[in-house]
Amino acid sequence: MTKTVFITGAATGIGRATALLFAGRGYFVGGYDIDETGLQILAADIAAVGGAGVVGHLDVTDADEVSQRLSEFVAGAGGRLDVMINNAGLLNAGHFEEIPVAVHHREIDVNIKGVVNGLHGAFPHLKTTPGAVVVNLASASAIYGQAELANYSATKFFVRAITEALNLEWGDHDIRVIDMWPLYVQTAMTRDVKTGTTTSLGIRLSAQDIAEDIVSAVEPTLPRRLVSQVHFAVGTQAKVLALGSRFSPAWLTRLVNKRLAGR
Ligand SMILES: NC(=O)c1ccc[n+]([C@@H]2O[C@H](COP(=O)([O-])OP(=O)(O)OC[C@H]3O[C@@H](n4cnc5c(N)ncnc54)[C@H](O)[C@@H]3O)[C@@H](O)[C@H]2O)c1
Repeated sequence: MTKTVFITGAATGIGRATALLFAGRGYFVGGYDIDETGLQILAADIAAVGGAGVVGHLDVTDADEVSQRLSEFVAGAGGRLDVMINNAGLLNAGHFEEIPVAVHHREIDVNIKGVVNGLHGAFPHLKTTPGAVVVNLASASAIYGQAELANYSATKFFVRAITEALNLEWGDHDIRVIDMWPLYVQTAMTRDVKTGTTTSLGIRLSAQDIAEDIVSAVEPTLPRRLVSQVHFAVGTQAKVLALGSRFSPAWLTRLVNKRLAGR
């Protein structure tokens, strides 16, 4: 039995690195994106690592297309959907009021509605696959609202909340729903981003770092299984921030975030 993984936003960055890592581990990989040129390169690279899979166009904001691609993928992959990765995302940095409202709306469409579409479309297939896992790409900006990333950060709080809720709800169907909380990663998403926190914290993680943590979150160690871990902070900085926010008083968490944002 070959396990399968469906990844949105797989043409580049974290999605691409994750697709290649799963391919190398023998999974049948579905890589989907609006960037079809990037997908052709991914397909060649999956073959180069001796992997198997398919790639195809998918705009996560189109619920019908999401359902259709998932059904086609599962039909061609032996009727299984072991891992669904809601990874496609957009980030707009800057002062909230200076970013056009249509740009905020597009970020909400991709980061929020795209995840809702992925979850909804995947459910029938996850339900019929024993031990299925959903991985949503949230962010360390789901720990405390981030200045100069206000709308982005808010979309990631949505991802955090829907992950927590469905982790409880879909436990009834033997579906484990988790999310990843990386701090800044060196990808196209952060290439031209300069905020208070990119200056104070730097952009230290690679897409490969996140991909490796996704694979180990999908196939967790016994202790992680026993505590039913839901959120996976990636990298030392995100782990410290996540832990700090849990144990420090609200005023201190605010002050730390204010200072990190250079305010
Ligand atoms: N880069 C970071 O610092 C960072 C940190 C934490 C979380 N994340 C999250 O990780 C995920 C991946 O980020 P990344 O850094 O690899 O970004 P990236 O920009 O390198 O890649 C994102 C991919 O999503 C695709 N995409 C965009 N809109 C789409 C749509 N409507 N339908 C389908 N695909 C679409 C893009 O074409 C691109 O291939 C995102 O959800 C992001 O918010 C990134």
